[in-house]
Amino acid sequence: MVKALILHGGAGSWRASKVKEKALETMKKCTAEAWTELIKKGSAIEAVVYAVKCMEDSGYLNAGVGSVPDILGNRTLDAGIMTSNGLLGAVAGVTRTKNPIILARIVAEETPHIIIGGYGADELAVAKKLPLLPPPPKHVIERYYEGLQKLFKGEIKSEFWKGIWRFIENNKDYLEAVKEIMDVSDTVGAVAVDDNGVLAAAVSTGGVIFKLPGRIGDSPIPGAGFYADENVACSATGFGERIIETMPCRMLSELVRQSMKFKDAINEVIKHANELVGTNTMGFIAVSKDGEIGWAYNTEAMLIGYVSREGEIVTDFKP
Ligand code: GLY
Repeated sequence: MVKALILHGGAGSWRASKVKEKALETMKKCTAEAWTELIKKGSAIEAVVYAVKCMEDSGYLNAGVGSVPDILGNRTLDAGIMTSNGLLGAVAGVTRTKNPIILARIVAEETPHIIIGGYGADELAVAKKLPLLPPPPKHVIERYYEGLQKLFKGEIKSEFWKGIWRFIENNKDYLEAVKEIMDVSDTVGAVAVDDNGVLAAAVSTGGVIFKLPGRIGDSPIPGAGFYADENVACSATGFGERIIETMPCRMLSELVRQSMKFKDAINEVIKHANELVGTNTMGFIAVSKDGEIGWAYNTEAMLIGYVSREGEIVTDFKP
């Protein structure tokens, strides 16, 4: 048996999350159901799409229904998908589509493009009769307003959000309405290999909370937020800017291609990220063609779910 599956529900600290238990339950459910899908359909792509759609639908993770708002309170979602047998598609900055991962798959399977963004992507979703994004859940709205208050009071610890705030203060005309920002950067993702040796990677996100309008992260960028080749599939989470700078998924692929052992390559990638962009920046999950699963993160925690060799569903914040 080669088949293997691993999901992530985001890297960060998770300490401030009001829906920690719900997020854990979501991971258990989505891991179990995606594993059943992998067995039933025998397809890695079906399994990762199922897993990511399940997490998008939950409302408890930062993707799909649970996506966090930008600085103006609007939501723009990104997603990407790639397989070892040639499927590659992504969407960026969609505002009305409940399941960006389904839309990314449509881009890959039905269009000649790789990335479709914004209005055009939402129009494609409407044409394909995909469900609309519902209003954000209460906990997401609370998180937005509580975070805004901290911004106004200057209680900002992270350099990333200090940078956004500096921009706002230096550009008062740009955002007149707004004067420890959230410590969770919870993108979702899944990687799988099936018994035919096909590897698949998927990722979906609402991006980082309080991002500037129009900002695009790593999730629709192959090699950064996701990547799959004939050896490995990888899905990343964390600060998109730092992930784009380090391309962890592409680096993992290259190291394994150069015959580095899967687990050693994972360790090398996170070491490289720490050296280049510092800690508390990212995490990723990966699967190999031989059915090995692995992960690494340099944040306080990363929510993951996988199926052990004994068939047990394992979920954890600090694996
Ligand atoms: N990793 C998700 C984002 O930064 O947009």
